[in-house]
Amino acid sequence: MTKKIAVLPGDGIGPEVTAEAVKVLERLQRDFGLKIALETAPVGGAAYEAHKHPLPEATLRLAKHADAVLLGAVGGTRYDALPRELRPEKALLGLRAELQLFANLRPAILYPQLASASTLRPEVVAGLDLLIVRELTGDIYFGEPRGLRTLANGEREGFNTMKYAEHEIERVARVAFAAAGKRRRQVCSVEKANVLETSGLWREVVTRVARDYADVELTHMYVDNAAMQLVRAPRQFDVMVTGNLFGDILSDEAAMLTGSIGMLPSASLDARNKGMYEPIHGSAPDIAGRGVANPLATILSAAMMLRYTLDEPLLAGRIERAVSKVLDQGLRTADIWTEGTSKVGTQQMGDAVVQAL
Ligand code: IPM
Ligand code: MG
Repeated sequence: MTKKIAVLPGDGIGPEVTAEAVKVLERLQRDFGLKIALETAPVGGAAYEAHKHPLPEATLRLAKHADAVLLGAVGGTRYDALPRELRPEKALLGLRAELQLFANLRPAILYPQLASASTLRPEVVAGLDLLIVRELTGDIYFGEPRGLRTLANGEREGFNTMKYAEHEIERVARVAFAAAGKRRRQVCSVEKANVLETSGLWREVVTRVARDYADVELTHMYVDNAAMQLVRAPRQFDVMVTGNLFGDILSDEAAMLTGSIGMLPSASLDARNKGMYEPIHGSAPDIAGRGVANPLATILSAAMMLRYTLDEPLLAGRIERAVSKVLDQGLRTADIWTEGTSKVGTQQMGDAVVQAL
């Protein structure tokens, strides 16, 4: 059966990198029997320009009806002055909430070919392969009440609510344990249970869920320590599971360990493995439109889409091997370029991956 894929290129370098991932998918469609139908719609700032809303009704409908969503990136300084409801980021949060994409998988893998790209010493990061499972539809990101109020003394106060219900913790914990079962069988649950009630409950529920996964070892870590351990000895981690806010922060840190945020894909999944796939990096307005952005994270996001939603693990592997091959060939976009390798642009990189398929 043909699977429908919503392509939402978004802003900044989003359209450039998405175009390369689409090239790869279209080649798989043409030569390798992949049955997909791609449909594109605007999101983020691009959608605001065209329809006065970052997540227009038609885009949301397309995303809801599609089997999977491939997203580039959203955001740009141009939109900073807009009311919060109309900012590009709101489209991301809206898609996550509306599609109930509660499990965000963010792998941080150090490609051996790029060992010297990390700011950490090679002996600290060599062989790094960790997966952050971030809860994506709860926590302080969505908790009510939230807002701004004026106190009796006339001073303004901002407030947000961190909260988690047991079922929200349980379902994302299950995703983490299941993922660990296919990896090195270790889950580290990250919270701040020494201070926060939400975190105390988080720890309790994760501990309870762990009983159903006897072959996976569970440890707990406070988030401040986790942030430190990630730069001290990152290879101690296999799967980390954490809430929305802590996961946002730790996943950027983990991405940086690899020295190449331009390489890292992500998946956001619902209870039935429908997913939205996007590179971890943002819209990078500073290099947008110059054809120098690294398309590999988006191409690898397409590979994750084939693996998790479209049930095409062989084709996913084909993409991943093609990416590894172009790195072996010494091709590098500017963000991962080092002395002695060949610098290529966005399109050349995409073409090389298509060639290597
Ligand atoms: C991310 C981003 C988003 C988030 C922003 C753009 C809303 O930082 O996907 O990590 O905070 O979740
Ligand atoms: Mg983030």
